[in-house]
Amino acid sequence: MYDACRWLASNETLPEPDGKFGLVLSGPVGIGKSSLAACVLMERARRGQGVMFIDFNDLLNKARKSQRPDTEVHYDEIVSAAGDIPFLLVDDMGDMARRADITDFTRELVYDIIRKRFDFLRETLITTNLTAEQFREMFDDRIYRRVHGIEEDDGMCFWVEPT
Ligand SMILES: Nc1ncnc2c1ncn2[C@@H]1O[C@H](COP(=O)(O)OP(=O)(O)O)[C@@H](O)[C@H]1O
Ligand SMILES: [Mg+2]
Repeated sequence: MYDACRWLASNETLPEPDGKFGLVLSGPVGIGKSSLAACVLMERARRGQGVMFIDFNDLLNKARKSQRPDTEVHYDEIVSAAGDIPFLLVDDMGDMARRADITDFTRELVYDIIRKRFDFLRETLITTNLTAEQFREMFDDRIYRRVHGIEEDDGMCFWVEPT
């Protein structure tokens, strides 16, 4: 986990289409995923890169708000903000206890963001309590393929589970 974060924090080269340009830190609560991820984010900001931190549950709340008729939060703006920022940290993406929050609507939102980041080679750091298998089950194969990869090496992120 530390080596992977060091790699991402100091990655200077532009991502190559076939290479990895992101990282998932997967593991139980309390092992320091969010703290380490925040360090990577700070280092990227220090180097002058545009960075954004999103708490996954906040993202879902915003997305739900965007469905209300009198809303000032717009779905497309959420997707472009999270999809276009050069470096994105998504903290706590997926939690078995909040499984019910993942609906077709939220899955579509995640897909729209991830697809953009994947297509434009934008670096993404995700922390999650889910195992890769649970992540695949909770989201769907379109998302899983772009993040983790189904065929060898077709995902944008290294998947790191501390042993
Ligand atoms: N490298 C570290 N050394 C000491 N304490 C740490 C370290 N990383 C995290 N912590 C502390 O451990 C707790 C859990 O860290 P956190 O990053 O929230 O874990 P996670 O995101 O995996 O649940 C927090 O109280 C945090 O301050
Ligand atoms: Mg955390």
